[in-house]
Amino acid sequence: MLLHVPAVLDSGQVAQFRQALDGADWTDGKQTVGPQGAKVKRNLQLPESSPLRAQLGEAVLAALAGNPLYFSAVLPARTLPPRFNRYEGGGQYGFHVDGSVMALAVPAGSPPLNLRTDVSCTLFLCEPDEYDGGELIINDTYGEHEVKLPAGDLIVYPSSSLHRVAPVTRGARLASFFWAQSLVRDDGQRQMLFELDASIQALTASNADPDAVLRLTGVYHNLLRRWAET
Ligand code: NI
Repeated sequence: MLLHVPAVLDSGQVAQFRQALDGADWTDGKQTVGPQGAKVKRNLQLPESSPLRAQLGEAVLAALAGNPLYFSAVLPARTLPPRFNRYEGGGQYGFHVDGSVMALAVPAGSPPLNLRTDVSCTLFLCEPDEYDGGELIINDTYGEHEVKLPAGDLIVYPSSSLHRVAPVTRGARLASFFWAQSLVRDDGQRQMLFELDASIQALTASNADPDAVLRLTGVYHNLLRRWAET
């Protein structure tokens, strides 16, 4: 499922992110991928150890925590701390598939904790007219989709998809990106739950028969109970 989540950050928050990232120390994005990814990846990233990355990543997660559309679509169980990248001067990332399992940082002495990447997310931090190119191009079972969203908006897409970022030929494209493991592993099941939840919300808002809405809400939770891995 591809889902556009608008206004995860408001314009004031985007301005704060941009100001902080303008003075940041960027590093080669090849450092966070294996040899196959490194062949096609040409961008800059904030280093994993950067305090700014941690601080802005927390701010992204805080913004998502108050976003019911994101929660309904992703049903996140675990989320990798958000990262930040920058494409400019022809920078691009050729077709690739995201790693399927990633290690989460844990306190020293704790057992290792992995995250299965079910859902990939890109949060755009530049307006589309600030740069040329830079579209996120996603190949899924329904074909190829080009995504270039307003600053502050998020795209959610299956981590199983092949995707790429087109070369940025003017200006710079800044974004945050991260992965979530969902309570519901299967993309199709997750999509059905999302549609059902959206229908229940719409019926509730239109003062539909409360008993019928209650029964549908029961169906939602019983499906989630059946499918959720906790
Ligand atoms: Ni990717």
